[in-house]
Parts: sequence; structure tokens; C-alpha cells
Amino acid sequence: MSVASRAKRVTTNTLHEMKVNGEKIAMLTAYDFSLARLVDATGIDVILVGDSASNVMAGHETTVPITLDQMIYHAQSVVRAVQRALVVVDMPFGTYQSDSNNALKSAIRIMKETGGHAVKLEGGGEVLSSVRKIIDAGIPVMGHLGLTPQSIYKFGTYSVRAKEEEEAERLLNDAKMLEEAGCFSIVFEKIPARLAARVSSSLSIPTIGIGAGADCDGQVLVLHDMLGITQEFSPRFLRRYADLEETIDSAIRGYIGDVRSGSFPSEEESY
Ligand code: KIV
Repeated sequence: MSVASRAKRVTTNTLHEMKVNGEKIAMLTAYDFSLARLVDATGIDVILVGDSASNVMAGHETTVPITLDQMIYHAQSVVRAVQRALVVVDMPFGTYQSDSNNALKSAIRIMKETGGHAVKLEGGGEVLSSVRKIIDAGIPVMGHLGLTPQSIYKFGTYSVRAKEEEEAERLLNDAKMLEEAGCFSIVFEKIPARLAARVSSSLSIPTIGIGAGADCDGQVLVLHDMLGITQEFSPRFLRRYADLEETIDSAIRGYIGDVRSGSFPSEEESY
């Protein structure tokens, strides 16, 4: 029996055992009760309440504007729905970069007010004091390296990161520092597959890739992208498993037609 199928509730220990056992970890985002319930029921290992809610739910161009209160609202809705998966909540931009006391306060708010199981934050050495402080308080932290969307205005593009040797070495060092600080896992976003494979095999904690090749210990996608709700976003790494835009469009057009023709509601649908 696999580690994942034995787990009634997924914990950070479950993920560690899955890596040791060579079992891949499946992670998806969710931001609301109804979809989180469907996602959890599938047996997914980790649900990320990502700050991609800023794009997907609120329609912002970047993840920068979403606030701590808004992330807490999304996480509360998700946690109410979840019975099995580990729920990780993104710390939004501005809540951990300025100083480690502020970071700890933000992480404590997330844990106390949402019932989530862990937080995720972006960056390596530059946020290490915040990572340490949060972990020292007993809060599990997932790191996030490579393309870090909260720094979009610093980098200027969403292109593949760490292609050059110097940046690749920096990423390797950052990953080691996060592991030593006590992170239970790290997301690698949009980095070369060979680099992700090399760093993953040199760490004892599980790595989760998005656009980082097949040799990470797990994979994550944004739910609305893989379900085909967000059609305008098509990076190479995105595999679409459904075309919900088409399904939703035809359902709603069918409804409009029925209302306009008077065929909805029928007698059976009336009291
Ligand atoms: O916010 C998010 O959805 C994320 C994933 C892309 C890893 O951080």
C-alpha cells in the first residue's frame, strides 16, 4: 500500500515519506469552498490557496495587489471544505519581506484565522530570517524559488529563470538554506528541468515543480488553468485536462435560450 493511499489526512510527514518512497506528490490550487471540496474528494495530496487568486479570482494582472485579509478569506473557505489534503496558504506580497516580526505576525494570523496547515513564501537568502522565525514558532513553511511572481516588477518578465550558471548556483544555495532552516518542501517555478532534477536529488525535502520538468518530487498547477477556465494563459508547461470555458459557455447559452423561448421552467420544475 502506498504512503498516499494510507494517509487519512496528509501532513508534512506524509509528503516526506512519499519522497523517501519515490511517490510523486500531486498539488493543485483552490480558492473557494465549492471547488476545494471537489478537489479534495479526488485524493489530491496538497491544496495550495495560492496568491494566484489575485489573477484568477480578482482579475488583477499580477499577484502583487492581493491583501492578507483577502488571502485569509479564501483560505477560510477552502479549509471548511477539506477533509484530507494538506492546505498550504500563500503569504501575500508585503507581509513577510520587511522584517521577520511582521512575517511571524502575518503567518500567525493565517494559521489562527484560517485553520490552514502551512504557509508558503517566495525567495531564498533574502527572506531567510522570516522563514526561520516562522518555523521557530511551530508553523510549517513551504519555500518557492525560480520564477517568483511577487517580484515581477524586479525581473520584468515571466520567462524561465536560472538558465545561466551563476543564477543556477544561487538557486541551489537558496534551496539548501531553506532546507537547513527547516522548510518542509520547496516549489520550483519555471526553471530548467535539469537544474530542478539536480537540486531535487540533492535535497531530502520534497520539491514541487511548475514548469520545472518531470524530476521534481511533485507537480502543481493552477486549477483554473488546468480545467481550461482561463484560456488566455498558455505557457508550455500547462497541460489542460478539460475545456470548462466551452462547457460553461454552452450551458449558459442553453439556459438563456430556454428562458427566452419560455421552455424553462417546465411544469415539472414549477410548484
Ligand atoms: O499562487 C500560486 O498559484 C502559486 C503556484 C503557481 C505555485 O504559487
